[in-house]
Amino acid sequence: MTVGVSVTGREDRGGPRADEPPLLEVRGIDAGYGGLGVLEDVSFTVPRNSVVALLGPNGAGKTTLLRVISGLLRPTGGHVLFDGEDITAARPHRRARQGLCHIPEGRGVYPSLTVRENLVLHTWKRQERAAVERAVENFPVLGRKLNQRAGELSGGQQQMLSVVRSYLDDPRLVLVDEVSMGLAPVVVDQIYEFLARIIREGASLLLVEQYVNRALAAADRVCVLAKGRIAYDGEPTGIREEIFEHYLGTASATG
Ligand SMILES: Nc1ncnc2c1ncn2[C@@H]1O[C@H](COP(=O)(O)OP(=O)(O)OP(=O)(O)O)[C@@H](O)[C@H]1O
Ligand SMILES: [Mg+2]
Repeated sequence: MTVGVSVTGREDRGGPRADEPPLLEVRGIDAGYGGLGVLEDVSFTVPRNSVVALLGPNGAGKTTLLRVISGLLRPTGGHVLFDGEDITAARPHRRARQGLCHIPEGRGVYPSLTVRENLVLHTWKRQERAAVERAVENFPVLGRKLNQRAGELSGGQQQMLSVVRSYLDDPRLVLVDEVSMGLAPVVVDQIYEFLARIIREGASLLLVEQYVNRALAAADRVCVLAKGRIAYDGEPTGIREEIFEHYLGTASATG
């Protein structure tokens, strides 16, 4: 596995402006399923033009938190603000229209639809050709599979289709849940190069990633979630050794 690739070009990006609210602000979120509490008083921000890695052990609540942010799960307490606006009660499709895009855990494609149908699903008729061209430009292999059912693609190709669909909506914040899961390192590199491109074009990223070192290399900030609470929130270089050992299953950022 290639680690430590700074594919995000974060050096090139301007810092956040003091007079603007953060792109995303999560304030005191409580959430769970039925009577079962999962997230407790979770607060953090994603600044503009930044990559925030959201790390933590299995079952910590990372996916649950992304679902709260994209509107798939209603929190029992707290607020979600996007670009300064309280969107806690907004439906998922409205958040998507505002530029909040969620690439879900697993492959977020419709397996029985063709690749082309997956690509144009949320696209206006007159923009269909441009959407397909934009996708193929990023992942040429998809161009040779346009009429195949998405379910017949390899895992890597399905993930390409899943991530590239986010790009077609001109996202401002992309929530990425375990995009590398089960993929060959060479495919993971391609996906990360693609994510770097979205960032260069002005989006921010909230990145849930099992490969801790890859996430740390790409991230401007890191939040570690443990048992539904924030255990660390800060610079990647500031994570103490015990956080690594307790929560991230690795000895250190370079281990
Ligand atoms: N649909 C659901 N119904 C009930 N409980 C759920 C549901 N989804 C998740 N949970 C529970 O919520 C807790 C947090 O799960 P979540 O999937 O958010 O964790 P995660 O940090 O994404 O874990 P992983 O690293 O394994 O993906 C776990 O205890 C899980 O069993
Ligand atoms: Mg998860």
